[in-house]
Amino acid sequence: MTDQTPALTTGDLVRVQGLVKTFPVRSAWGRRRGVVRAVDGIDLTIRRGETLALVGESGSGKSTLGRCILQMDEPTSGTVTYDGVELTSLPHARRAPFHRSMQVIFQDPFSSLNPHRTALQNVMEPLAVLTPDADTRAQAVEALAAVGIDGDAIHRRPRAFSGGQRQRIVIARAIAVRPDFVVCDEPLSALDMSIQAQVTHLLLRLQRELQLTYLFISHDLSVVREIADRTAVMNRGRIVELGPTAEVFASPQHAYTRHLLDAALSTDPGTARRRLERISARPDPVGLEPDGTTLAEVSPGHFVLR
Ligand SMILES: Nc1ncnc2c1ncn2[C@@H]1O[C@H](COP(=O)(O)OP(=O)(O)O)[C@@H](O)[C@H]1O
Ligand SMILES: [Mg+2]
Repeated sequence: MTDQTPALTTGDLVRVQGLVKTFPVRSAWGRRRGVVRAVDGIDLTIRRGETLALVGESGSGKSTLGRCILQMDEPTSGTVTYDGVELTSLPHARRAPFHRSMQVIFQDPFSSLNPHRTALQNVMEPLAVLTPDADTRAQAVEALAAVGIDGDAIHRRPRAFSGGQRQRIVIARAIAVRPDFVVCDEPLSALDMSIQAQVTHLLLRLQRELQLTYLFISHDLSVVREIADRTAVMNRGRIVELGPTAEVFASPQHAYTRHLLDAALSTDPGTARRRLERISARPDPVGLEPDGTTLAEVSPGHFVLR
C-alpha cells in the first residue's frame, strides 16, 4: 500500500510503513519450528485528534501492532514515525519523551495496577519517572478527579474498587502524564455491559478536553461504530480494509469485513457473541484469508486489500 499512503502531513501523528513483526514458534522441546507473522506488512497513518478503530478476530495481530507503534515490541522490519520522528531508528536513550507522549490502556485493570499501592500512588508512579520536575502529587490528584475518583477514595488500594472504577484509575494513570496519543487495547472488554457505556463516554470526554488521538482496539463493533472516525479491519497480520467508519459499516468491500459485520451485528447480542467466539475458534475461515497484495482506494479514503 506504500504508494497509496497519503504523504505525511501536519495532520498525521503516527505513520507506520511496511511494518512486520514475527515471533518464533517453538516445539514442546523448545526447538525453533518457524515463525508466526503477527504483523505482516502494514502501512497506516493515524491523524491528529482522530479515533482510529482497529477491529478483527482474536489473534489477528491488533495488540502486536499497537505494541510495535508504542515501541513496547521491537518491529522485525518497517518503520514507525511519530510526530515527524522515526522512532524505529532512534537510540533507546532518546526515546524517553515518547514514553510520556504515547500511553496505553489495557483490557485488564487488575494486572495493570500495583495491588499493594493506593490509587494515588499508582497514578503517581509513572509521573515520577516520566515527568520528575512536575508536581507529581497535584497532577495525579487532578487526573484522578478527571475520571471521577476523589476524596478519601484516592488512598484506597485497587481491590477496594469496582472493575469500572479500577479501569478509571488506569485511565487516570495514562492521562496524568499528559499524553498526545493513547492506544486503548480492548479497554471495555473486562467490564460489565452497564459500565461499558460510562467508560466509553469518559474516554470520549477526555479525548475532547485533552485533544487526544486514539488507536482504539476492539472487537465490539457496536462501540466502534459509535465512536471511531475511521476503522481499520485486520486479519492475519494484514489490514484488509480501512475507511471512514460509517462507510465501512454501510458498505463493506472485503469479504472478511462483511463476515465480521454479519457475525457481530445480528440482533441478539448473546447470539452475536457466540458466533464471534465460534469464528475466533476456527482458524481458517475458508476463502477469507487476506490474499491481496495492495490496498486499492475504492472511494476517497476507503481502501480495500485487492
Ligand atoms: N509475545 C509473543 N510471543 C509469541 N507469539 C505471540 C506473542 N504475541 C503475540 N503472538 C502471536 O501473534 C499473533 C497475534 O497476536 P495478537 O497481536 O495478540 O492478536 P490480537 O490482539 O488481535 O488478538 C497470535 O498468533 C499470537 O499468538
Ligand atoms: Mg489483543
